[in-house]
Amino acid sequence: MRVAVHCFEPCAGTGQALAKALGLPFELVSTHRFPDGELLVTVPDGKPDVVIAHLSLDRPNEKIIELALAAEAWRRQGARRLVLVAPYLAYMRQDQAFEFGQAISQKAIARLLGGLFDRIVTVDPHLHRTHRLADIFESIRADGITAAPALGDWLRARGGASSLLLLGPDEESTPLVQATAKRCGAGWLTFLKSRQGDTDVDLTVKSPEALKDRRVVIVDDICSSGATLAATARKALELGARNVRALVVHALLDDRAAANLREAGISELVSTDAVPHPTNSIALAPLLASALADEVRADLVHA
Ligand code: R5P
Repeated sequence: MRVAVHCFEPCAGTGQALAKALGLPFELVSTHRFPDGELLVTVPDGKPDVVIAHLSLDRPNEKIIELALAAEAWRRQGARRLVLVAPYLAYMRQDQAFEFGQAISQKAIARLLGGLFDRIVTVDPHLHRTHRLADIFESIRADGITAAPALGDWLRARGGASSLLLLGPDEESTPLVQATAKRCGAGWLTFLKSRQGDTDVDLTVKSPEALKDRRVVIVDDICSSGATLAATARKALELGARNVRALVVHALLDDRAAANLREAGISELVSTDAVPHPTNSIALAPLLASALADEVRADLVHA
């Protein structure tokens, strides 16, 4: 069985790193945009039996159409198995109808992707009220791996990790913050967050004295508008933190949000390469490759 990594342009660098880590060939899917906005997708002609498709789903709307078009071509060319590696999986935050008539985006997108692919691998999906990715993707295998080992190793490699306080903005961040802290030997705590709107966030703290004179690193899954990190940093500094940096898995922020973070007192923002962004410093290829090792082993077994 031939297995290949096929990657879409925005993730060319990380796709190549993933293919290298897996010891697999790597090729690019190309997309042409017609003047009317429709897309033409062309997949490479190697005719693999198993395609590992790599595309992170930040700014997802067009990308989902690209995946649907590519999946049609892969299947028609004879692919027996399609695995989507989407380090950032969009639309997971809308996991219930908060008001009458709202779509539950999480369900709709999972149904759509589940109809195209045989397996999905993603990183720290934002599952708030749903606990397991398997509960969302009912018909296919879906693996949500955590970037915590990569975050912890990065902090440890920088030195002085044991004197850091890792801070989660809300209770949902606890598993990520705790696992990262454990990996690098830092202390940790989380705030309690309530969100009033897209960019309006309130925070409360159980043990305000714990922040005093600490070197704080905020750890969170997503930075989008930046409101959460900015409010967390302001609160930490107000409670006496010596300095505040931030580490996120998915950097969805734009330049304006980045400026807001600096204004809030965050001296450094670092992210994984789950979403291409100037703050990327932490490679996820090793973690993704080990999650995908069984796809490559299947290649050896059936060769
Ligand atoms: C929400 O609970 C997530 O974990 C993130 O804290 C949130 O999505 C970040 O979004 P923003 O940067 O817009 O505050």
